[in-house]
Amino acid sequence: MGDDPRAARQLRRITEQLRIAGAIVNDLLDTVRGRNAPPSPTATFDLARVVREAVAWVPRPPRLAIALRLPEDPVVVPGDARRIRQVVVNLVANAVQSLDGHDDSPGIAVTLDFDERAAHVSVRDHGPGIADTLLPRLFEPFVTTRAEGTGLGLALSRQIARDHHGDLRAESVSPAEGGGARFTLTLPRHSVEGP
Ligand SMILES: Nc1ncnc2c1ncn2[C@@H]1O[C@H](COP(=O)(O)OP(=O)(O)OP(=O)(O)O)[C@@H](O)[C@H]1O
Ligand SMILES: [Mg+2]
Repeated sequence: MGDDPRAARQLRRITEQLRIAGAIVNDLLDTVRGRNAPPSPTATFDLARVVREAVAWVPRPPRLAIALRLPEDPVVVPGDARRIRQVVVNLVANAVQSLDGHDDSPGIAVTLDFDERAAHVSVRDHGPGIADTLLPRLFEPFVTTRAEGTGLGLALSRQIARDHHGDLRAESVSPAEGGGARFTLTLPRHSVEGP
């Protein structure tokens, strides 16, 4: 590559993303084997920053708007930044995919709210929403309606949320409220003792 700084930058990005991809595959295998390490009880991270990074990572059509509603100050939570970033990447990727062919839609809104006890990241799209018959099975592994989907994104994401003593919920938004789907990740603000 010589000393072309652009090539060096791209190679650094590729290396970084390969490392992350490798870690995701290892997580997946650990989850399937049922021996995911619990998040370190002392690790903390800024959830606002993790949400910003996750949104920046998801490939999307250039005209698709993503409204980010984040507090200005850091929102520190306990847990594993890399795994939580993966959850937000999965949710935003699903939202982008739900809008395929809906070029005129109002796009996607990603919001972070918090109080003393918990932080909530919600990802709302204006796609077709989720059929009532699919909703109860949405988080089961291998449930997918996409030709190229694995159906693992939401199953893994909920597992990661629960490993953090949080949760991940899905809802279909009524047509009166504009339709589409909303996924909400909830994480406690303070370490929870015990398993
Ligand atoms: N925002 C959304 N709007 C409508 N349906 C959704 C949305 N997110 C997920 N779904 C539905 O839930 C199914 C499962 O999602 P999940 O992320 O687990 O797997 P996938 O997206 O199909 O595959 P992968 O995540 O491996 O690419 C999707 O195939 C889709 O039918
Ligand atoms: Mg997915």
